[in-house]
Amino acid sequence: LSVLLLWAVIGYGLGSIPFGIVLARLMGLGNLRDIGSGNIGATNVLRTGNKTAAALTLLLDGGKGAVAVLLARAYAGGDAVQLAALMAFVGHCYPVWLGFRGGKGVATFLGIMLALAWPVGIACCVTWLAAAKLSRISSMGALVAAASSVIWVLLMGYGGALVLAVLLTGLIFWRHRDNIARINAGTEPKIGQKG
Ligand code: G3P
Repeated sequence: LSVLLLWAVIGYGLGSIPFGIVLARLMGLGNLRDIGSGNIGATNVLRTGNKTAAALTLLLDGGKGAVAVLLARAYAGGDAVQLAALMAFVGHCYPVWLGFRGGKGVATFLGIMLALAWPVGIACCVTWLAAAKLSRISSMGALVAAASSVIWVLLMGYGGALVLAVLLTGLIFWRHRDNIARINAGTEPKIGQKG
């Protein structure tokens, strides 16, 4: 049990690093809370107009999820892997450093899936890109990609990741509830728009 607790803490610690906030500050782009949706993710970093910062945020927020999975797999294995993944996701969405007001988990989710079951991860990334490109709405891409993960794990024979995929998808929908309301109202901004 103490091993699982350790990996839960490591996963949370990694996930809770708010790379978007840190990069925006380091690169002089201002406080993300005052920009666009106020979210700490790559989509909102893009609203500063700095594509490099947005790409870095996407990579690092994804990378921390992947690193949590890879470390847990290398040093512990078994249940520790999915627990570290879940807690990295929770850390991103509810970081203690930001008073538990974190992000929406999309990049971290993609990184987790790539490290956990790479064919599923790639399928989710392709789904995300396709849905975002077709709709021109980042949150729409995220919601479609998250929901698709449940189908991909089943189709591709990664049933062991089903519970995690369902949990993360549920959390992503919950974190996007304002976006969903805006999508329904037709007021959700297109990618890159200030919002
Ligand atoms: O990944 C977050 C994205 O799906 C929505 O971000 O800033 O438009 O709420 P935002």
